[in-house]
Amino acid sequence: MTRKKLIAGNWKMNGSLAANAALLQAVADGLQQQQAAACDVAVAVPAAYLAQVQQLLAGTAIALGAQDVSEHSSGAFTGEISAAMLQEFGVCYALVGHSERRQYHGETDAVVAAKAQAALAAGMTPVVCIGETLAEREAGQTEAVVQRQLGAVLDTVGKDDVLRLVVAYEPVWAIGTGKTATPEQAQAVHAALRAQLVAAHPEAAGVRLLYGGSMNAANAASLLAQPDIDGGLIGGAALKAADFLQIIAAAAGDL
Ligand code: 13P
Repeated sequence: MTRKKLIAGNWKMNGSLAANAALLQAVADGLQQQQAAACDVAVAVPAAYLAQVQQLLAGTAIALGAQDVSEHSSGAFTGEISAAMLQEFGVCYALVGHSERRQYHGETDAVVAAKAQAALAAGMTPVVCIGETLAEREAGQTEAVVQRQLGAVLDTVGKDDVLRLVVAYEPVWAIGTGKTATPEQAQAVHAALRAQLVAAHPEAAGVRLLYGGSMNAANAASLLAQPDIDGGLIGGAALKAADFLQIIAAAAGDL
C-alpha cells in the first residue's frame, strides 16, 4: 500500500513574529523549487502564532498544525484552547499526547484519547504521539508501552475514524538528545503498531506512522526508506529551513 508521506515540523515553544516569517518564507520558497508535492508538509506552531502563521501559509502547500488541543469544548478551563477555536484558524493537524505534554503536564492515555476525539469531532487530524522512555526500553517494555498508548485511542475512536488518525512514534530517549532510533529499531516498532492498527480495522493499513526523535537532514532518508515509516515529526531540525527542506526532499523522493 502506498501512503503519501507527511513531514511535520513541531516548533515546540520556539519562534517569534520575525523568526516565523523568515523561516516560513524560506521553506515556502524552497518547496516551490523542489516541487515536492509528492509529500505532505505541515508545521505545528505555538498557539499564540496561529493567526500569523495562517496568513503566512496562505497560498503555500504547507498545512497548519497545533501542538495541543483541549478535550473540552468550551467553558471554565483557563489556558485551554478548544478544537473549534483551532479550526477557526484553519488548523488541519493537532498533536495530541506529545511526550512533553505527558511528562510535564500529566496527560494520561485517557486524556490523550479524549483530545484525539475532540480533534476528530472538529474535522481535524489528530497526530497521536506515543513512545517509550529509556527505562521502559531497557526493561523490554517498548512494544507493550506504545501499544497501550495507541490502544487507548483506538478503543475510543469509532472504526471509521481510525482511518483519520496519524500516529507519531517518538521514543522519549531520542527526543532532543541527538540519539536517533536506528532505522531497524524504528521499523520494528512501526511494524508492531501497523499490526495493531490493522487488527483494529483492516483499512488502517493506510494510516500514516511518523517517526520522531532527532530526525535530521543526515538520517532522514534511511529512516524514511523503511516500509512502515511514512514520514517524520521533526523538532529541532524544523527550525532551520535548509534542514527541514532536506528532510522533505528525502521524503518526496521515496514514495
Ligand atoms: P527533536 O527532533 O528535536 O528530537 O524533537 C522531536 C519531537 O519531539 C517532535 O515532536
